[in-house]
Amino acid sequence: MKRFLGFLLVTVACASAQSIRYSAERKIWLLTTNHSSYAMGVDANGSLRHLYWGGPLWREQDIAAPTPRRDVSSFDPKQMLENEEFAGWGGPRYYEPALKITRENGVRDLVLKYVTHRIQQNELEIDLKDIRDAIEVTLRYRVYPETGMLRRNAVIRNRTNQPITVESAQSATWHMPPGVGYRLSYLTGRWAAETQLHREPIHEGMKVLESRKGHTGHAINPWFAIDEGSASEESGRVWFGALAWSGNWRITVEQTPYQQVRVTGGLNPFDFAYPLKPGEMLETPEFFAGFSPNGFGAASRLMHRFEREHVFPQSRLRPVLYNSWEATTFNVTEQGQKDLADKAAKLGVELFVVDDGWFGKRNNDRAGLGDWFVNPQKFPQGLKGLIDHVKGLGMDFGLWVEPEMVNADSDLYRAHPDWVMNFPDRPRSELRNQLVLNLARNDVKEHLFGVLDKLASEYDIRYFKWDMNRAFSEPGWPEETPAAQRKLWVDYVRNLYDILDRLRAKHPKLEIESCSGGGGRVDLGILKRVDEVWPSDNTEAFDRLRIQEGFSQAYAAKVMSAWVTDVPNMNRRSTPLQYRFLVAMQGALGIGANLNKWTDQDSALATRMIDLYKRIRPTVQTGELYRLLSPRTEDVTANQYVSGDGKQSVLFAFRHSQQYNLAAQTIYLRGLDEKAVYRLESVDNKLADREPELSGAYLMRRGLNLNLRGDFDSTAVILLRVQ
Ligand code: GLA
Repeated sequence: MKRFLGFLLVTVACASAQSIRYSAERKIWLLTTNHSSYAMGVDANGSLRHLYWGGPLWREQDIAAPTPRRDVSSFDPKQMLENEEFAGWGGPRYYEPALKITRENGVRDLVLKYVTHRIQQNELEIDLKDIRDAIEVTLRYRVYPETGMLRRNAVIRNRTNQPITVESAQSATWHMPPGVGYRLSYLTGRWAAETQLHREPIHEGMKVLESRKGHTGHAINPWFAIDEGSASEESGRVWFGALAWSGNWRITVEQTPYQQVRVTGGLNPFDFAYPLKPGEMLETPEFFAGFSPNGFGAASRLMHRFEREHVFPQSRLRPVLYNSWEATTFNVTEQGQKDLADKAAKLGVELFVVDDGWFGKRNNDRAGLGDWFVNPQKFPQGLKGLIDHVKGLGMDFGLWVEPEMVNADSDLYRAHPDWVMNFPDRPRSELRNQLVLNLARNDVKEHLFGVLDKLASEYDIRYFKWDMNRAFSEPGWPEETPAAQRKLWVDYVRNLYDILDRLRAKHPKLEIESCSGGGGRVDLGILKRVDEVWPSDNTEAFDRLRIQEGFSQAYAAKVMSAWVTDVPNMNRRSTPLQYRFLVAMQGALGIGANLNKWTDQDSALATRMIDLYKRIRPTVQTGELYRLLSPRTEDVTANQYVSGDGKQSVLFAFRHSQQYNLAAQTIYLRGLDEKAVYRLESVDNKLADREPELSGAYLMRRGLNLNLRGDFDSTAVILLRVQ
């Protein structure tokens, strides 16, 4: 009996720890994590219906089985009220479908019903099938109990004996709790002004966030957050998500006339058609989402932690980087680079990167792209001499590449004019004098893998900066049938991922940065495969504060490259060197300035700042970020990072422009232990409080005052927990 009781206890304990539970009797799934729950059920007609998404629930009996609804009118069918989890376009359904197809005979109706499911630890697969045909969809779910994140996508299979064409293939539809008054946060921008945070009320109708440009795009980033209308950094319920796809993507935010907000995202249906022959399948991108009961700050902290633990490649802390682009542009020479390397090493730089201009006939942006062999005039002995020099100085070596592109004036294009995407007898539009290779072609993919693999094998290269400096145009693939040509949008991205995955597997120490004219390719799909991303070509420090604020809504500081560059910069603005350093030190610090022009004082300050950065780097790159004061709304911008173990915290503060001789506002710290005592170290003596040690309670409730004066003043304070 005792043994039996013991066994029972163990089973009960396991069941309650289970993150995915299914009630066979009521056909309900409850996915539960530390931070959120998500519920679905099958109704009497066999439709899979969404039931709940929000804070954690523990009792599945609380969730009622989906009840049948009635048509409201002949214009308002019950289907519009039923919140189907993944709706096909068929029957009387007028909202944004998750899947739309055409059969060979022209029949386009698709009504999906539940068939079966499988649960394996934190993963759930639910099979749906059309009411008539063997067109099948597997919905894939994974829960991440520690952060409460959910991952969803879908696999669409044609098991009929006729071809079909997929016209819209989404990853997921997310339903908000029924009601109105929601607000959408999203990130917009353009070249040199990416990730600007916007918030606006959600009304009836549909808001479309998307890219049609072939890459993720500068204009909108594939991230959203929805709150009940009044959430702040630290309070309010927030539902948020991000799509892992670096090609044409779309997220629609729709409020139906029935007070239901639905978010549907996946492959952009614009110019989309994906033929599936009998037996073929299409898998949609992963869509990650989470829930925070404590505002936007907690939402992004959950996201950051999740990314560090489950998305990013598990690589070292980002080293301090020097990139020679802004110093030399295309005028790269072996001696010039060696001189810069000497200077960079003295400052404490750990990774020296040669940017554009080292290959082919690349003396400006009109020629050479595609010819990835070392320019013999600039580097008579190849790159080895420079790399040995850089390594001798104790730094790693990195190299810029832009594999997907070709100049018309290049040996590659002369040999393979058919390798670029094009429509026959139509213009091939050049942007920055370059054309886009059709990476959907496997011969192009193999060629590019070969080029990069050769470079990484021949030379001791630790790091590629992988650039992509234009969007697609004329996306034709003449070698394919007209019906299959539009696969290019998807297959291009798949092949890009394949090259990155293979390169990393073959060269495990190789690190990669994703750049696309700045932040044109920043998303969780590429971030699975690269170690950092370049948020913007705009390195002007004040503009950067807002770009970084937006970036941090969705992405963790570890992957955010941030450079110190020369002034005057964009907007003809000149900010002090310390200000520029402290702005850049909030991510993965790099320097892109022309070191040949720096004075001894500049170099001395830079050495001190780099030294300081190395002390706080683990906290910045792997700690928790608290956005205390926003550059969008305040004169002072303040961000605070707290290390995972709570022992170190660092506060960065920037004043835009003092007026009327007023003191800077008080800064209330967060994320500290109120009972603990912290020792304060100011980088430049701007602490108004003279006490060397202060309690967490005081720092969070009374706050800190900083002597920030004039325009573009800045400071940082390191806090060390002493008891
Ligand atoms: C793009 C990048 C820059 C630099 C140049 C080189 O503009 O964003 O950082 O690499 O290309 O041509």
